[in-house]
Amino acid sequence: MSTPALHEPASKPLDIAWVRAQFPSLQLQVNGQPAAFLDGPAGTQVPKQVMDAIQGYLLNANANTCGAFVTSRRNDATIVSARAAMADFFHCEKDEVVFGQNMTTITFALARAIGRELKPGDEIVVTTLDHDANVAPWRALEEKGVVIRQVDIREADCTLDLEDLKRKITAKTKLVAIGYASNAVGTINPVAEITRLAHDAGALMFIDAVHYAPHGPIDVRVLDCDFLVCSPYKFFGPHMGTLYGKKEHLGRFRPYKVRPAADSVPECWETGTQVQELIAGIYAAVEYLAELGRRCDRTARGRREALLAAYRSTAAYERVLVAKLIVGLLAIPGLQFFGITDATRFSDRCSTVSFRLPKGTPTAAAVFLGDRGIFTWDGNFYALNLTERLGVEKSGGVLRVGLVHYNTVEEVDRLLTALNAFCAS
Ligand SMILES: Cc1ncc(COP(=O)(O)O)c(C=O)c1O
Repeated sequence: MSTPALHEPASKPLDIAWVRAQFPSLQLQVNGQPAAFLDGPAGTQVPKQVMDAIQGYLLNANANTCGAFVTSRRNDATIVSARAAMADFFHCEKDEVVFGQNMTTITFALARAIGRELKPGDEIVVTTLDHDANVAPWRALEEKGVVIRQVDIREADCTLDLEDLKRKITAKTKLVAIGYASNAVGTINPVAEITRLAHDAGALMFIDAVHYAPHGPIDVRVLDCDFLVCSPYKFFGPHMGTLYGKKEHLGRFRPYKVRPAADSVPECWETGTQVQELIAGIYAAVEYLAELGRRCDRTARGRREALLAAYRSTAAYERVLVAKLIVGLLAIPGLQFFGITDATRFSDRCSTVSFRLPKGTPTAAAVFLGDRGIFTWDGNFYALNLTERLGVEKSGGVLRVGLVHYNTVEEVDRLLTALNAFCAS
């Protein structure tokens, strides 16, 4: 496993009552039933700290950057604090953190900038397991003659075919683009090992950590990747994207930018005016996780240590939930499950699962559940290569359930009861 910190014993179990009290939207009722937010992979709920920070920004710091007056100075300070928070989150330097609209926009911009340096015949490796936002931006470089090599999966457990990966990384490879975890089936990829393979071949390593970020700690120093992206709205923050880039690369590649904008790194990568009120929210999301960590481990000193403590507790908690969920799903006769089911291999998966029921389409099941206040997703979730490879794309894809640390055992039970009712209806 590439992230040892995830598997150390948590000092204290997660205080689920405290966690849920931080998220006001969890109180929502649907048709007289409490809402069960099992839709985390498409975006998580936010704690009130994030709401307060966004409101606080709009009240006290709402201005553009680098002005000679108080609200502009506060705005600049907000961005500096958020960069420092994300640097702790990634475990990097502050000037290695770039903010952007979302992961997709950031990745297209980065791919375009890297593409400036590539020549026909250069190769980029992508995978069948990935979200299309980590495929299409690289495929767009085919227009320049760049060759895309796509790594297959092992269908039995929806893990990457590492032998195929090794065959496809060659001396021609310039960049390897891999997801940290699959947003469709929850597989966690051995990204540290793959980074070594990429570097041995002289290629850059780009990691899409969007799906992994709510489930485990990211350490770009340990991974040694060149770029890593994630989206705060998947880890309890607002709708934005963030990029980690090694300083040498952020300085070396040339982003497309307007002339008067800063040439300094990382600002030169942040095109136009950012959604600064949401940057305030990103800071608060990281602080929320750190607060959770300090509650789980009172010995955690700095923010980075507190974040690691938080993830130790949330990962252990999510492991219990997903184990119960998978046992319950596999007990439904005729259910088709995609991904790892063996509990001894749960360190290679996170708490996101996809399946098809013996009757009805994934959409029909999602509507049935939604009417009962249980929020799940149906379809391909933009993991289009995967649903095509699994042969389910034309028949509605899969039904996805995503558990995060504010979900409960009771919600898993409710879901299983409702799924059995759907199958019996
Ligand atoms: C694994 C993964 N990568 C990339 C994306 C795209 O992220 P964004 O919405 O920030 O562009 C998503 C969104 O669902 C995702 O789950």
